Amino acid sequence: MGGWKPGDPRPAADSMIRVDQAGEYGATRIYAGQLAVMGDRSPAARTIAGMAAQEERHRKFFDAMMARRGVRPTALQPFWNVAGFALGAVTAAIGPRAAMACTAAVETEIDRHYAEQLDRLGDGDPELGAAVAEFRAEEIEHRDAAIAAGAEQAIGYPFMSGLIRAGCRAAIALAKRI
Ligand SMILES: [Fe+2]
Ligand SMILES: [Fe+2]
Repeated sequence: MGGWKPGDPRPAADSMIRVDQAGEYGATRIYAGQLAVMGDRSPAARTIAGMAAQEERHRKFFDAMMARRGVRPTALQPFWNVAGFALGAVTAAIGPRAAMACTAAVETEIDRHYAEQLDRLGDGDPELGAAVAEFRAEEIEHRDAAIAAGAEQAIGYPFMSGLIRAGCRAAIALAKRI
């Protein structure tokens, strides 16, 4: 951040990249937790493995962008590592529909977060904007796939969904600062 001059949009973009990388990292950990519990044979596990591969691509993109632009990573990485994995493992242990409910809830908040970011970015950082727009389209696909796979039929869906969405909003707010 040392190179910043007035009028330079980078400080805002730096914090955006930090929170996005944290989110994508968290997503890979959620899916890793789910797959650890579900194995890789069920249809739900195959759907999740496909999503996980896309999250991996998102995360790698932000990792590379951070390195290139000298953005410091979130200090909470060890926490997202454990919290993401635990969320994935617990929801998958409840059942495949609960696992899908988790994805639907998380992706709903990520979609909202990316939409807000695109709004703030405008045409200020075309490289970041293009990536966020592309990844957002895939998060929306994940949400829709999770709903198609029965997310809303999970036992206690409104409660679980509300809880996970609140958790995601808190995580995003935290990742913007730390
Ligand atoms: Fe993602
Ligand atoms: Fe996703």
